[in-house]
Amino acid sequence: MQIVVLLGAPGSGKGTLASMLSKLPGIAHLSTGDLLRNAVKAGTPAGLEAKEIMESGNLVPDTLIARLVEEYLVSHASLSTILLDGFPRNVAQADILAELLEKHEVDFGCALLLDVADEVVIRRISGRRVCSACGAGYNVDTLPPKKDGVCDACGSALCTRKDDMPETVQHRLSVYAEQTFPLVEYYRTRGLLQVVDGSGDDLDAKVKAAVEIIQ
Ligand code: AP5
Repeated sequence: MQIVVLLGAPGSGKGTLASMLSKLPGIAHLSTGDLLRNAVKAGTPAGLEAKEIMESGNLVPDTLIARLVEEYLVSHASLSTILLDGFPRNVAQADILAELLEKHEVDFGCALLLDVADEVVIRRISGRRVCSACGAGYNVDTLPPKKDGVCDACGSALCTRKDDMPETVQHRLSVYAEQTFPLVEYYRTRGLLQVVDGSGDDLDAKVKAAVEIIQ
């Protein structure tokens, strides 16, 4: 098994790209944001600890997220590739990941950076809508539902993520710049960084570029 770390600002398209790639055989998508949002919805101890921190746009404790990621890795050991979306989020988590991979004898494929300008991510995030029931993602500009405000897949109401409110988005971008962006250098200096231009709207081109890198 290999791990591919997806890097990029909030709204750079990590989740969208990973959901396309995970349709290919043997590839799975682990979004730590989704993992935490599900834990919040289910009211688990991890969810209760994470709820307010996530809504403010800050990062949950490293130990909490590391435990959830390790559980996932162990229970998905038969897969060929796991795309990690949202972990690691800082240098301490990158060191934890390296230890976990060594402990479970898993290969590190690469860190794949989706490179997108701030103004593009702000526009994308403000258009994002999520199904309140099944979690399907939409965008009022680039991927609208057939009927306004209603999920195509299950007919439930679409909503805006609490952390997608404009003031919280600015804060998430600062947290990204301070804590997550240093990972670009972290992986570059280890010869493990690959970069894909994430700015255009052509998703197929990004999927093609990513497949060439990870396969
Ligand atoms: P998380 O859910 O990981 O949020 P994020 O990193 O801020 O990522 P986003 O989901 O906002 O963006 P994305 O890059 O996936 O973009 P998407 O594909 O949706 O984390 C949320 C919170 O959880 C954190 O703030 C933190 O509190 C906590 N957390 C998570 N992991 C943690 C960790 N390791 N440690 C500590 N705390 C952690 O795309 C965005 C929009 O753009 C969509 O509407 C999409 O339709 C559109 N779009 C995407 N690609 C394109 C394209 N090519 N063209 C046009 N539109 C596009």
